[in-house]
Amino acid sequence: MRIVRECAELIATRDAMEESVGFVPTMGALHEGHLSLIRRAREENDRVIVSIFVNPTQFLEGEDLEKYPRKEEADRKICELAGVDLLFMPTPEAIYGADELRIEAPKVRGYILEGASRPGHFDGVLQVVMKLLNLTRPDRAYFGKKDAQQLVLVEQMVRNYFLRTRIVPCEIVRDPDGLALSSRNVYLSPDERRRALAISRSLKRAGKLIQSGVREASAILEAMRGVLEGEVDELEYVAAVDREFRPVERIEPGEAILLVAARVGTTRLIDNLWV
Ligand code: PAJ
Repeated sequence: MRIVRECAELIATRDAMEESVGFVPTMGALHEGHLSLIRRAREENDRVIVSIFVNPTQFLEGEDLEKYPRKEEADRKICELAGVDLLFMPTPEAIYGADELRIEAPKVRGYILEGASRPGHFDGVLQVVMKLLNLTRPDRAYFGKKDAQQLVLVEQMVRNYFLRTRIVPCEIVRDPDGLALSSRNVYLSPDERRRALAISRSLKRAGKLIQSGVREASAILEAMRGVLEGEVDELEYVAAVDREFRPVERIEPGEAILLVAARVGTTRLIDNLWV
């Protein structure tokens, strides 16, 4: 596995790859969720590139940029074992210059839900994903459904800017108790972790209601709130949207996504269910 920190070297190494290239962008502190993307990329491509970059522009003032878990040594081993060909670990200076032009997330879809809780977050995500896709020019890039709004916005950017990469959505990986894997789970105390389980439980409850024929979004969201109340410390939102992230009143199986964002202790967690 080759480790590269400079953009020029990444471009040269990538350009020497003649067969298909799969790319998995991450912020590191790799877990089974990331690994599932890497494994899929490994299966579907001749070469696999992974990036690890804690992107400063997608963190808002006061968020956890400084304390975001960094585990370079362990991540390197994980990538090596997973058969990654090229690991890109740039510094912020390698990626960003002064007075850059900016990519802006779409005004509606980029500024509701996660975008409303974290205004400007998706501008930063799209900015860095655009750079990474241009650097790696992958045939396929792998994104988790765990970050549903991010996935939908990246798909839109690829369409709007006529990028040649195919975005591959990947299923959410959970711990056996249901908690969606996240690099931020390490912040949770045992009690917080126990209470955080209400998040996946609320989605499971919603799934059961839908299976039993309930279609009214308001009823389903109310049931989810019932499961979450008293467990999470702050419920930021529960929502039902379609696959384009437009709010829906009726849940049509195959067309809807149910979303939760909540704070447990000081940790902000998100989860969702593609119905
Ligand atoms: P990060 O949070 O490290 O996630 C990297 C990728 O792993 C994302 O596509 C995310 O959706 C996916 N992922 C995380 N947890 C997952 C889980 N439990 N199951 C399945 N996939 C999961 O998302 C980012 O980094 C950044 O915003 C990035 C796209 C790298 C841009 O900086």
